[in-house]
Amino acid sequence: LRSQHPLHWGTLFKYPGWYVTGYEEALTILKDTRFKNRIPLPETSKKYEQLKNIQNNMLLFKNEPDHKRLRLLVSNVFTPRIVESYRPYIQKTVNDLLQQVQNKKTMDVVSDFAFPLASLIIAKILGIPQEEQYQFREWAASLIPTIDFTRSRKALINGNIMIIVLQDYFKELIKKCKRSPEEGLINQLINEEQQGDRLTDEEILATCILLVIAGHETTVNLISNSILALLNHPRQLMELKGKPWLIESAVEEFLRYESPTQMTARIASEDIEIKQTTIKKGDQIYILLGAANRDPRKFKNAHLLDITRNPNHHLAFGYGAHFCLGAPLARLEAQLAIQTLLDRADNLKLAAPEPQWRKLIGFRALNELPIT
Ligand code: HEM
Repeated sequence: LRSQHPLHWGTLFKYPGWYVTGYEEALTILKDTRFKNRIPLPETSKKYEQLKNIQNNMLLFKNEPDHKRLRLLVSNVFTPRIVESYRPYIQKTVNDLLQQVQNKKTMDVVSDFAFPLASLIIAKILGIPQEEQYQFREWAASLIPTIDFTRSRKALINGNIMIIVLQDYFKELIKKCKRSPEEGLINQLINEEQQGDRLTDEEILATCILLVIAGHETTVNLISNSILALLNHPRQLMELKGKPWLIESAVEEFLRYESPTQMTARIASEDIEIKQTTIKKGDQIYILLGAANRDPRKFKNAHLLDITRNPNHHLAFGYGAHFCLGAPLARLEAQLAIQTLLDRADNLKLAAPEPQWRKLIGFRALNELPIT
């Protein structure tokens, strides 16, 4: 498909649309704000009103000029400098989690390591009290299927319930933060002001929930997929172990090679011509980031893992106006997690013959990854 029809009209999912698998085509569309983001629920579904209302206030589903305004306010409190200040806490959490499994015969990278790591970090950043952080993990986990393209009725009903739970939880937390301001992202979001403009309570609420959804599973998957990629490429595993300075380029390659977010979507706001193809106003566009990241017209030996690949302009975090706000955090967590695991384990091996991928379309996610 990618070599012959990098921009292809099809009906792979419930809704017909353009399937974009080529790198250049994906980049062109992501750069062009005439292709709008939209909430993934059909406009008519009254049943999931709560879920829809929250999603409507999320940065990810806003378009200009609302997006720019909200992005400015949120990005001012979620800067790379703030993320860097969490480095010691992330390192300590990585060490503690690995300490806990030290005497176990096998460890599941997903549930013993990556999952608790990502949830503890995002909970810490949001200022969730420690005793509530594990409960928080459960909630976060049930939200991902609601934004995947395969979402079933059951996933939506579950997600709708979880959104109500999370919404009540964050409403209380926001109230508490207003009464007794403490350190943490929520307080910063409450106090952030740009030219007299502030976030509304609904926007603070939706931002907290978005950070939980967008920042949780994706990071779990990046860490787990990276470890699996290394186990399948033992020479590169040894190289990374011996040359720890390669960790940054290695993580970029894992992002490209097994992109945790495989797909995003847009809708055309007018007729737009892309490479002699007219995309009509109202057409849906499915951008397959994982496919674009393996486009041989862009990447040499695109199907091979190369932890030294340079340059590596992958689209794993998207591109343009909606470029992932959490990229610095995801990169830092993955770098510290993978490097520390490699440092501590001498002879990492898979403990199951073939790890299974979850049946999701928008995300590349392992069910479990047992290692010894
Ligand atoms: C947006 C991927 C981690 C927060 C995005 C987009 C992608 C992405 C592809 C753009 C979607 C689009 O254009 O439609 C990833 C991956 C991650 C990751 C692969 C981990 C490996 C995080 C983390 C956070 C986060 C840790 C925050 C804690 C966001 C937010 C947006 C976003 C807020 C929306 C930005 C906007 O619309 O302006 N992410 N993400 N992400 N991501 Fe991430």
